[in-house]
Amino acid sequence: MKVLQEIIANAKRAQKRIVLPEGLEPRTLRAADIILKEGIARLIILGNPAEVRQEAEKLGVNLTRAVIVDPATDPRREKYADMMVEIRKNKGLTMEEALALLNNPLYFAPLMIKAGDADGELAGAINATGDVLRPAFQYVKTLPGVSVVSGAFLMFINDPNIGHEGILVFADCAVLPDPDENQLAEIAVTTARTARAIVGLEPRVAMLSFSTKGSASHIMVDKVVNATRKAREMDPDLKIEGELQVDAALVKEVAQLKAPGSEVAGRANILVFPTLESGNIGYKLVQRLAKAEAIGPVLQGMAAPINDLSRGCSVTDIVNMVAITANQAAATF
Ligand code: ACO
Repeated sequence: MKVLQEIIANAKRAQKRIVLPEGLEPRTLRAADIILKEGIARLIILGNPAEVRQEAEKLGVNLTRAVIVDPATDPRREKYADMMVEIRKNKGLTMEEALALLNNPLYFAPLMIKAGDADGELAGAINATGDVLRPAFQYVKTLPGVSVVSGAFLMFINDPNIGHEGILVFADCAVLPDPDENQLAEIAVTTARTARAIVGLEPRVAMLSFSTKGSASHIMVDKVVNATRKAREMDPDLKIEGELQVDAALVKEVAQLKAPGSEVAGRANILVFPTLESGNIGYKLVQRLAKAEAIGPVLQGMAAPINDLSRGCSVTDIVNMVAITANQAAATF
């Protein structure tokens, strides 16, 4: 896949420092071996160094070029704990509580990023989405002007006539169960930025619904119509259309019938789903039935790139997601 090769080439040029909190996880260590060998990123692996090295030896992987950091003994713990107490002062976090949280690599990693000691994080091979995201939400927070984090998937479809040379970007498929119209507008705008930065495409955003341009009226349709208007206000140059059914978004002949004259309908390359249910179900249907390659979720809207793996991920998934995280770290949003 040409785009994936470009993502990896960009990562190699950027040489970002990516922290991997799951330092004893075998797929992560095998992926680290490949990433270091190919020079895709610099890696910081969290864990007890003796245990990490022992596991690496058992797996026959070479981690000599990785920096191994032990969250339990690292000299930066006090500094990080101070930062945590300051960030969570409204929540009454104490120094003692902060130091205890830092024993957990899923807290230590975002603090490394916050302190400028790492550029991005990838975790989730053995931890649930919420456990990876909560510390990131709390300490790294969102980009200025963005209030919610969401998750996009790059879908590689076996048809170059669909989307951008066969690539569609779907969101939100991973984070926000029931976005309101403001949040949905933000998801549209941030997904366009992700698609531009990672895939290099010129966004054409379809705001999906079960209705096209007033064919049905329902409170759920109103949400999408209002979100489309708000996204236009947030980014007046964005090519965006809504509400659209997915066939009107993707198929020229249907678009001509249902949304004539639209510069997005029939040729959308970004699909924004109205809820997490539809987004998550939608990407998995396309992945399984259309045999599309799904890469993600690429988390967007966070002040620094932190990505979450599926627990069923492969070594290749981890390598690709480290490359994507490095691309996000190199991009200016
Ligand atoms: N963006 C930014 N900040 C957020 C977001 C968001 N989308 N969601 C929650 N937060 C913040 C909150 O403001 C809160 O901050 P605070 O502590 O400073 O007040 C903090 O994160 C915790 O918020 P909670 O409401 O307690 O959130 P919780 O931790 O319960 O849930 C979570 C967050 C886990 C991400 C939840 O939204 C969730 O479970 N989403 C679905 C995840 C999922 O299962 N996805 C499908 C699987 S992934 C896949 O298939 C690829």
